[in-house]
Amino acid sequence: MNKKKIIKILDRIYKKPLTCLTAYSPSVAKILDGRVDFILIGDSLGSTLYGMQNSRGVTMSMMINHGKAVKRNVKKSVTIIDMPYKTYETKRRAFINAKKLMNSTGVKLLKLEINRKNVSIIKHLSDKNINVISHIGVTPQSFKDFRKIRSVGRTKYEKEKLINLALLSEKAGAKCLLLECVSTDTAKDINSNVSIPTIGIGSSKFCDGQVLVFDDLINMENKLHKPKFVKNYMNFEFFAKKAVNNFIKDVNKKKFPNKKYSY
Ligand code: KIV
Repeated sequence: MNKKKIIKILDRIYKKPLTCLTAYSPSVAKILDGRVDFILIGDSLGSTLYGMQNSRGVTMSMMINHGKAVKRNVKKSVTIIDMPYKTYETKRRAFINAKKLMNSTGVKLLKLEINRKNVSIIKHLSDKNINVISHIGVTPQSFKDFRKIRSVGRTKYEKEKLINLALLSEKAGAKCLLLECVSTDTAKDINSNVSIPTIGIGSSKFCDGQVLVFDDLINMENKLHKPKFVKNYMNFEFFAKKAVNNFIKDVNKKKFPNKKYSY
């Protein structure tokens, strides 16, 4: 299916390619607002912000608190929020938690990690007018140890399974697909088989848009092992350390605070 068309999401019209970055705080939300199309309050905050080993410890209250803080500071971009691990295991639970997340934060687009077993949750929520993004490919909530994450879609079997899951997600009512660590060939095929937009992370240029974790984009932390898809657009860690060293020097030399910074 040819997808050379303008994409309509939630009554707002976007031209491709779409851009998306994560935000967990007001300051980052303000930097991103109006620049990127989508701001994702991702459950990556578990590892990125809280230092957890994986995203399984992320709770509804964490997502609600960060969701509120971000949403309050976003006027132009569309916000997306992740439903945390084990909050959408059954249709009933998914609906109750989806409502809670939307009502408490004001975010109207929910991202769920989808596999063959839970794809029917999308239909259940969509039938109740809840907008869902289907996150497929590598789904981090399935991993206790992120170091075990590998790209998917390399074999014929995996490719067929993923294309099928993408089509099932679309049929169930997903508004968008998020493809994580999907091999180039498979991502390309998914993109041409579905008519909803695809946003990729580590899933080639053949998606309708791209997402990155903001902290990775600025290199907040110089990680030893970073995924292949991470591109650092600046070295925040380097400049932050420099600023801290200068502060320490100034304090030691009694240069700070001088008159300008004193009452
Ligand atoms: O939680 C998150 O930030 C995500 C992105 C990595 C896509 O799901």
